[in-house]
Amino acid sequence: MVGILVTGGAGFIGSNFAQLVLESSDDRVTVLDALTYAGNRASLAGLDASRFSLVEGSVCDPDLVDRLVAEHDVVVHFAAESHNDNSLRDPSPFIQTNLVGTYTLLEAVRRHGTRYHHISTDEVYGDLELDDPQRFTETTPYNPSSPYSSTKAGSDLLVRAWVRSFGVQATISNCSNNYGPYQHVEKFIPRQITNVIDGIRPKLYGAGANVRDWIHVTDHNRAVLRIIEAGRIGETYLIGADGESDNKSVIELILRLMGRPADAYDHVTDRAGHDMRYAIDSTKLRTELGWSPTFQDFESGLAATIDWYRDNEAWWRPMKQATEARYAAVGQ
Ligand code: NAD
Ligand code: DAU
Repeated sequence: MVGILVTGGAGFIGSNFAQLVLESSDDRVTVLDALTYAGNRASLAGLDASRFSLVEGSVCDPDLVDRLVAEHDVVVHFAAESHNDNSLRDPSPFIQTNLVGTYTLLEAVRRHGTRYHHISTDEVYGDLELDDPQRFTETTPYNPSSPYSSTKAGSDLLVRAWVRSFGVQATISNCSNNYGPYQHVEKFIPRQITNVIDGIRPKLYGAGANVRDWIHVTDHNRAVLRIIEAGRIGETYLIGADGESDNKSVIELILRLMGRPADAYDHVTDRAGHDMRYAIDSTKLRTELGWSPTFQDFESGLAATIDWYRDNEAWWRPMKQATEARYAAVGQ
């Protein structure tokens, strides 16, 4: 049995990852999570207590991190401040968690010789023009736009340096936009679904031409497991499912799936520095590691996600009002 330390495992992707590991293997999972506004114990409810535990604490705490790393075989580092809009309001926790937290983990895995997988984002590459035939690949130059994406880019570069200078046994993955259950209602898709449930009109930033490359969270996590299993040390793998769609189309699809008129939404103040388009070329992951997405149809994945938010109001209701108040304060 392998012991896996999952940082940020009370968040959206990390909680889905912990659940997938426990379902698909006999491995043991420890989640290290600071339970910030984005972390939620309820996302981990019902997991097999004989193989799962949650430790409340920060990835910036060197003593705690050292002790936990020493007790595990693999570290998967999801913990981050993850929301671009928040990083524009106050970058400071992003500097602390995304940079100092990653540094703290790298020093611990260096001391203990522990296998480390670093979860990152396609946003480190900046953005593409709408008509650019290119997509991001593992060799695209870094060009981040926001405080969030620049701290993620910095954390990736720390990992690369710790591999080269200190021989740390690490891999990195950069994934596109995830959707699925347990995503915080501050994010685009769950915000609009829960707005419609509450009778609030969905909010589209600017004209809504911006394109995101959507992937189901389970497909992201299946790729992470495959990289941990067979990825080459020191390598970066891009994860994407060919799911490009512009924001206006996504809002219209949510409205249609929820039985509302396609134009029943509002245009609101655009995000400062708003990246226009992300698009992933995942050829390396597919050819080298044999991964492919299982959720091929965005519309049915989105319909299942809508059902999940309808069925799990008790999970998201406590965070909805404060989230909308933060948006209202900046005209979004
Ligand atoms: P999230 O905001 O839902 O969860 C982040 C988790 O990290 C929360 O549980 C939070 O409590 C925890 N956390 C924050 N600061 C911490 C600290 N100092 N110590 C310990 N725990 C802390 O984020 P998410 O969407 O699940 O993203 C997880 C990772 O995946 C991030 O690294 C993010 O950059 C990356 N990523 C996200 C997406 C996406 O579409 N959401 C896409 C690509 C990559
Ligand atoms: O690409 C991967 C990234 O995807 C991850 O690294 C981030 O952690 C994750 O939050 C996500 O970043 P985005 O900024 O793309 O996601 P967000 O859900 O905030 O917004 C998606 C798009 O929708 C973006 O173009 C902004 C727009 N938007 C967002 C909100 C919240 C709206 O039009 N209206 C909204 O209310």
